[in-house]
Amino acid sequence: MPFEGEPRLEFGWRLAPDARGRGYATEATRAVLELARSTYEGEILAMIDPRNVSSQNVARKVGFRFWKQAVIDGYLDRLYRLRVPRDLAR
Ligand SMILES: CC(C)(COP(=O)(O)OP(=O)(O)OC[C@H]1O[C@@H](n2cnc3c(N)ncnc32)[C@H](O)[C@@H]1OP(=O)(O)O)[C@@H](O)C(=O)NCCC(=O)NCCS
Repeated sequence: MPFEGEPRLEFGWRLAPDARGRGYATEATRAVLELARSTYEGEILAMIDPRNVSSQNVARKVGFRFWKQAVIDGYLDRLYRLRVPRDLAR
């Protein structure tokens, strides 16, 4: 998606309600990012509603860092970014 005039790679996560609260989102996100290590080099963005605490927790646990808040398509979002491979813990 374009943001501030540049194309950006956006990453997100969503679990069925019954699967939440068990660590699966973090585990699956780590696995996907580990795959990205061998195919992609650059920045990934996560755009998260400020009220969505569990999603921000997932972002931080896998290595995203808070960048800034911005209004996107009329909604306030907290933007997190991660650089592959630099920010991926082994
Ligand atoms: C955002 C979303 C994916 C987060 O899912 P989640 O299950 O809370 O995230 P995790 O996989 O990291 O699970 C962490 C929770 O599991 C608990 N947990 C239980 N067993 C665990 C284990 N073995 N390992 C790790 N965590 C475990 C943790 O205590 C933690 O809960 P806490 O953060 O309240 O302390 C989920 O809420 C969702 O699908 N929401 C709707 C869609 C959405 O908002 N997507 C994001 C849009 S930006």
